[in-house]
Amino acid sequence: MASFEHNNSILLLPLLFITVVLTVLSLSLSTAAARDTITPTQPLADNETLVSAGGTFALGFFTPNNSVDRRRYIGIWYYNITVQTIVWVANRANPVIRSTGQLSVTPNGTVMITNRETSTVVWSVVSEFSVAIPVLELLDTGNFVLREEGDITQNNHAWQSFDYPTDTLLPGMKLGVDKVAAGLSRNLTAWKSKDDPSPGEYYAAMGTDSSPEMYLFDRSSKKVWRSGPWDGIRLGGIPNMNGGVTYSFVNDNEEVSFSYQASGITPMLKISQEGMIQIWNFRAQSWNVFWFAPRDPCENIGMCGSYGICDITKSPTCSCLQGFTPKSPAKWALRDGRDGCVREVELDCRSEGNDTTFLAVDGVKLPESSSSLDGNIFSLDACRSECLKNCSCTAYAISVGGGGCVIWVTDLFDVEQLVGAGKDLHMRIKGSADGAGRQSTEVAGKHSCFSSHSQSQKANRRAVAIVVSLISGALLLSCFIFFLWRKKKRRKVNLGRTIFFGDKLDEDDRRKELDLPLFNFGTIAAATESFSAKNKLGQGGFGHVYKGTLGGDKEIAVKRLAKSSQQGAEEFKNEVMLIAKLQNRNLVRLLGCCIQGEERMLIYEYMPNRSLDAFLFEKKKATLLEWQTRYQIIVGITRGLLYLHHDSRYRIIHRDLKASNILLDKEMNPKISDFGMARLFGGDETDYNTRKVVGTYGYMSPEYAMEGIFSMKSDVYSFGVLLLEIISGKKNRGLYAFSPHLNLVSHAWSLWNEDESLELVDEAMNNNFPSNDVLKCIKIGLLCVQDHPEDRPLMPSVIEMLGASADITSLPHPKQPGFITRMSPFELDHISNNRTSGTSNELTVTLDGR
Ligand SMILES: *[C@@H]1O[C@H](CO)[C@@H](O)[C@H](O)[C@H]1NC(C)=O
Ligand SMILES: *[C@@H]1O[C@H](CO)[C@@H](O)[C@H](O)[C@H]1NC(C)=O
Ligand SMILES: *[C@@H]1O[C@H](CO)[C@@H](O)[C@H](O)[C@H]1NC(C)=O
Ligand SMILES: *[C@@H]1O[C@H](CO)[C@@H](O)[C@H](O)[C@H]1NC(C)=O
Ligand SMILES: *[C@@H]1O[C@H](CO)[C@@H](O)[C@H](O)[C@H]1NC(C)=O
Ligand SMILES: *[C@@H]1O[C@H](CO)[C@@H](O)[C@H](O)[C@H]1NC(C)=O
Ligand SMILES: *[C@@H]1O[C@H](CO)[C@@H](O)[C@H](O)[C@H]1NC(C)=O
Repeated sequence: MASFEHNNSILLLPLLFITVVLTVLSLSLSTAAARDTITPTQPLADNETLVSAGGTFALGFFTPNNSVDRRRYIGIWYYNITVQTIVWVANRANPVIRSTGQLSVTPNGTVMITNRETSTVVWSVVSEFSVAIPVLELLDTGNFVLREEGDITQNNHAWQSFDYPTDTLLPGMKLGVDKVAAGLSRNLTAWKSKDDPSPGEYYAAMGTDSSPEMYLFDRSSKKVWRSGPWDGIRLGGIPNMNGGVTYSFVNDNEEVSFSYQASGITPMLKISQEGMIQIWNFRAQSWNVFWFAPRDPCENIGMCGSYGICDITKSPTCSCLQGFTPKSPAKWALRDGRDGCVREVELDCRSEGNDTTFLAVDGVKLPESSSSLDGNIFSLDACRSECLKNCSCTAYAISVGGGGCVIWVTDLFDVEQLVGAGKDLHMRIKGSADGAGRQSTEVAGKHSCFSSHSQSQKANRRAVAIVVSLISGALLLSCFIFFLWRKKKRRKVNLGRTIFFGDKLDEDDRRKELDLPLFNFGTIAAATESFSAKNKLGQGGFGHVYKGTLGGDKEIAVKRLAKSSQQGAEEFKNEVMLIAKLQNRNLVRLLGCCIQGEERMLIYEYMPNRSLDAFLFEKKKATLLEWQTRYQIIVGITRGLLYLHHDSRYRIIHRDLKASNILLDKEMNPKISDFGMARLFGGDETDYNTRKVVGTYGYMSPEYAMEGIFSMKSDVYSFGVLLLEIISGKKNRGLYAFSPHLNLVSHAWSLWNEDESLELVDEAMNNNFPSNDVLKCIKIGLLCVQDHPEDRPLMPSVIEMLGASADITSLPHPKQPGFITRMSPFELDHISNNRTSGTSNELTVTLDGR
């Protein structure tokens, strides 16, 4: 036996040797065949490829997939990445049909692509200076250059592909304007479609203002996105790639340019044909999107106009900066913030000492900076006095990277609240100087009435905030007077709105509506100690919520409508009539209402544990949520939603399911609340198309956000997001702003595919959970957020899947989840079809979490 084996290997050895020799031979042959230059005597035929000396890039003819008539283009791609990744195209608008093309360089230095069959030149470039013996070379950087033979100096190129980018910015390439070579602006222009490299609708270019930033333009050359200015380290919101990338920025008399270098990773920056700027990274044998923009409506330029601030975690997303009020209140109420805000009191700085007050707005994407001025000044105080020198100065900020001050002498346009990454903007407001510059009573008073509080308020500012809210209490009265005045104005605009489901209720219901206990104002005022600040539980989009005590011991929550809120009144009736008819232990119970004069209030059972978000997204409290509790909450929400969708007399779509709308009673039982936007369906209707998209970004299904179609399946999507949030303790959007994973849903999806789903689980659970159950819940969550509504389960199946008898392997495999990529809810205004016209009276207000 042994000798037989021995003999066998002796026979194999020579074979092995021959194989190795052959392999080495063929390898060296192929490297020998792969050249990296083209000379006048050696053009490149259709069937040949150049490979750069280090083997990183290749250049040759290629045909995009699905090209109908075998169009041939000269392109550059990564040689050692098997998924062909075209990073540059020469003749993007002029393909050679059939394989008869040739790339050549003439002895006088003209580079051209010719169709040999017809002898036509389809593309050509002329060298910038004359070269005696021209050589075209593909460098290892991906740059394709024309140079003098024998001249290997790096920067002496008579022509280079890096000066004419296609849609991809490789490391070392520049995006920007060369002021010396007049007219040379290096822009990125998207492909027309994924099979057609000709110039598409979107392009990116550097602005050339005093504080340049990168812009993304649409087909009509309208700016759709901006990066924010260079801050010394990076360009506005373009994130750092974990140290693997260094960005550089030049702004001098010769050029304005942005570029980057990579080490240890393979990134590329690209404009997609859908109009997104993306950073890809090649990792684990595939390209992954590391980052993209615009990511959400707030990133579209000017969503909240001048002096508005867009905060995607809020609903509504737009609010006015402090001291400002909506320019067009009617449009503002309809969620269109693009007209922006105006000063409540005009600045007047003509005399000394006037308007020297500044207000800090923390953590924002700085306003469009076209007119900002850079100084060589490095302290906030100095920036402030720079600003005070000019009457038109509206704000200042300090550049973190050491570029000095940034000063605005225009309206502050396009301010966005960022999570954990923004800069501090110091905004000039009416009022005379005081040291801290923040406590002017005038400002404080308005604060509580209009403005959203900056999300990332710093600890030392909290104390100020408390003082501010005390003062604001005293000023509430003057606010109300102002509100009343505004309301009068607004009424003229919003005439004739009716409750949209009024005609769906039968007589029976109308009578029942009145069965609800009516409380009188005095009772409620007494119960809440005259709506005292200490009893305030929270503040929503249209009013405040107070805690109260009835009859000495019965605790209640009172939702008091702000008197200014026209929609609030309709929403109020909506909510009253709807909830009055709903009875389920997982829905918050309405005890009664109060309608007296202008006053409208809803009285609910009091939920001692407030809302789910307060537990879930706060580190300390999250540890109180053990798996058992989380599971119980998931099941409770499922039951509540099941009731709404299937078991009540009506089919009700909630439309704003989110963590802050889940209230918790003292046993931590979840109760769905906030029916202000709920929508009643007739028996035969299954979906509906609306012109106005309401709800909270991050929970909205793609078809609802982008097309306005809502159905039970859009609630199911929100439920899926909520489920993933409950398991992970993270918000779908927010924490992920600068992480490689775009949001919670895509993070969950990629972990799922990598079989690493348990990494999603909230650390606050301390590894103390049954992994099978958790995995099953994650799978259910992913099934609920699938892109196609028809793939998502209905609530009865969700209940079934959650049940102990359903095994994880018996659940279907989730498909790709749906993401909202680019959208603007207001674009939906322009969609008109028959179905939408029926809903023109629909309510359009979201309530914020209480
Ligand atoms: C390319 O095609 C030509 C004929 O068109 C042929 O002569 C040549 O050998 C081919 N070259 C390679 C590398 O296949
Ligand atoms: C391609 O090959 C070059 C040279 O071997 C290497 O430096 C580079 O990292 C490779 N790129 C990838 C994506 O593997
Ligand atoms: C063409 O399609 C194949 C298979 O789907 C894919 O691997 C390749 O990357 C595609 N090429 C281009 C240029 O899109
Ligand atoms: C270079 O040669 C090409 C053809 O050989 C000719 O069309 C072109 O005009 C020449 N250019 C110059 C600058 O001489
Ligand atoms: C690049 O974009 C700028 C800004 O829109 C434009 O003025 C310029 O003409 C563009 N350049 C090219 C080569 O497309
Ligand atoms: C501000 O300017 C006005 C005139 O424009 C003047 O009447 C007023 O006294 C000034 N206030 C201060 C504090 O200087
Ligand atoms: C203020 O700045 C604007 C814009 O730079 C400039 O036009 C104006 O002359 C300046 N005014 C003063 C008083 O410096």
